[in-house]
Order: sequence, then structure tokens, then C-alpha cells
Amino acid sequence: MSNPKQNIDKQDVQVFDAATGENNTYDLKSREEKERIIEEDVRKHWDIRAQRPDVQSVMSTRHTLEENKRATVEGQREVFEFLEGLVKNKKVFELGVGIGRMTAEIAKRAKEVVGNDISPVMLERARQNLKDFDNIQLLLGKITELDLSPKSFDLVFVSAVLMHILNPRELRVTIKKMQELSDKIFILEHTYNKGLTSSISKYSILRKIEEYQKLFVPYRLNKQKKHRYVGDNFTLMLFEKI
Ligand SMILES: C[S@@+](CC[C@H](N)C(=O)[O-])C[C@H]1O[C@@H](n2cnc3c(N)ncnc32)[C@H](O)[C@@H]1O
Repeated sequence: MSNPKQNIDKQDVQVFDAATGENNTYDLKSREEKERIIEEDVRKHWDIRAQRPDVQSVMSTRHTLEENKRATVEGQREVFEFLEGLVKNKKVFELGVGIGRMTAEIAKRAKEVVGNDISPVMLERARQNLKDFDNIQLLLGKITELDLSPKSFDLVFVSAVLMHILNPRELRVTIKKMQELSDKIFILEHTYNKGLTSSISKYSILRKIEEYQKLFVPYRLNKQKKHRYVGDNFTLMLFEKI
């Protein structure tokens, strides 16, 4: 069992399985400071994170690989129960595929999956992990840069990506583009209710469910469910065009 704790933690955050040379991302930053981090820095962060082992690349290193693997299996079960009937034999767009952790599960059920990511290193890992599927197309770049036809998808699927879009304008245009692509958008994001208690990387912004509801107008939040991911509060949300 590999469980290397790396000594890159300030504020007493235990970090497991960080990539070699990865900087401490738990140095405190206000939301305003995070919102000013430039796009190039964000992409580099994901290229470096893609070198972590297994699902640690796309999950928090505050948890061990074993904890994150278990949480992945539980999370996948929860997500596909929640999405009952919305994925089977459908055409799905997945924003930010990472290493393809959720993509494989979508592709087992869907007719076709098109996914993107801004990190070429992450996307290369996804290509390797998903090489046995013939119904997945992976594209490099932001959703706003891709040539995709309006309303060409039955569902847009997002797992832990919006919380990493730091720039408020970028977040708005990303949501607008997702709405152009489909009348149904599923998101699974780390959220909070009252005080922000857990230590959060400077490349993550936790938002309340109400903030997502405002961002998605005119789409309506028609279904939601809370989910604990290794002690972190996540929410599954289904937004639909009214
Ligand atoms: C926490 S990982 C989640 C990956 C995957 N969705 C999953 O649940 O396993 C976040 C991913 O989003 C990608 N990402 C960050 N900002 C993005 C953006 N604006 N558009 C597309 N992908 C983005 C990162 O490169 C990374 O692969």
C-alpha cells in the first residue's frame, strides 16, 4: 500500500501522494485572490496534478489513495442512480474529463460521449485509460473554444470541474455554452452551507447551492442530493431548461 505523505503542508493539512515537485496549494488565499489567478497558471496546475498516481490526480490529496478509490466507487453508484434514465443510450457531453474516471462509467451506459479538458497531460491519461471504448471522443481545450452544434447533446455532465473554474467571467461563459449544448445539465460539486471549514486548495472555490442556482438561470434546479465524499460535502444537482 503506497501512502507517501509529502511535507508540503502549511496549516496542518496532511497531503498524500502529491506529484514530485508539486507546490503547496493549501497556502491560504481569499476568494478574490483565487479569482485573479491567471488561466495559464490553472492549466499548469492541472498538468502537474495529472502526474499524481491514479485518482489522486482528480481528487483531494487530503485523503489517501485508498479512501479516494472507495469514494469513487460510492460516488459513481450514487451519480448513476440519481441520473436514472438520463444517460442510457443518450449522447452526453462531459466537461473536464480528467483521467476519464467518470467518462468510462458514462460510456458504458451512453450511446456516445464527447468530453474535453484544458490539460493536455490529463487528456493523455484519459486517452490511455479509455482506449478500449469506441464511443468516446476527447477534445483538448475550453468548451467555449470547441466547435459543437447547439442542442446536440441529451445531457451535459460535470463532475468536480466548476469548483475549479476560478475566474467569474470564465465560469459564466462556460455555463452559457453548456446551456447552448443541452437542455439538461448535471453537476456534482463540492459545496458548503454555512461556514467554510475544510482546508481548500487555492485552485478550488466552494460555492453554495444557491450561487449555482443563480448562475444557471434561466435553467431550474429540478433535483438535488447531498453526497459525502470522504467527509467532504458534495451536492448532485440536475438543472433543466424551463
Ligand atoms: C477535479 S478534476 C475532475 C475530473 C473528472 N471530472 C472527475 O470527476 O474525475 C478537474 C478537471 O477539470 C479540468 N478543468 C479545469 N478547468 C477546466 C475548464 N475550464 N474546462 C475544462 N476542463 C477544466 C482539469 O484539467 C481537471 O482534469
